[in-house]
Amino acid sequence: MERTCIILKPDALKRRLAGKIISRIEDKGYIIADARMLRLDEAILREHYSHLVDKPFFPDIVAYMVSGPVLAMIVEGENAVLGMRQIIGATHFEDVTAGTIRGDYAFNTEQNLIHGSDSKESAELEIERFFARR
Ligand code: CDP
Ligand code: MG
Repeated sequence: MERTCIILKPDALKRRLAGKIISRIEDKGYIIADARMLRLDEAILREHYSHLVDKPFFPDIVAYMVSGPVLAMIVEGENAVLGMRQIIGATHFEDVTAGTIRGDYAFNTEQNLIHGSDSKESAELEIERFFARR
């Protein structure tokens, strides 16, 4: 059984979309194995988004991600990492397609409602980061 780290970002909670998004995850056949509400800070975001810290928009990502609580989840199931990336949708707004979570609910690249690990290795690191260590 594969597992992945999913984070419902502040806009998902502010817009009261958590229930709808969790339903999509469950409809796919995945299990919510664990969940916790967290308030992220810049230090953990510099780790989590280490591939983006040098981008000019990194301060905007930090401001967005600390703007409210997030809901971190461990999601389990067959091919959970890739399967979740498929139902989440593309990173860039111009590539997003309808029928995905981002395609149906987000309207720009930044405020895109949900994070999903991009590999099995990232998933284990992120589960350690958001569940084991805190
Ligand atoms: O979230 P995902 O793995 O699809 O994309 P990422 O490249 O790891 O980027 C992390 C997050 O940074 C995205 O989900 C967006 O919220 C934000 N981002 C952005 O605001 N502008 C970009 N050009 C790329 C990413
Ligand atoms: Mg990513």
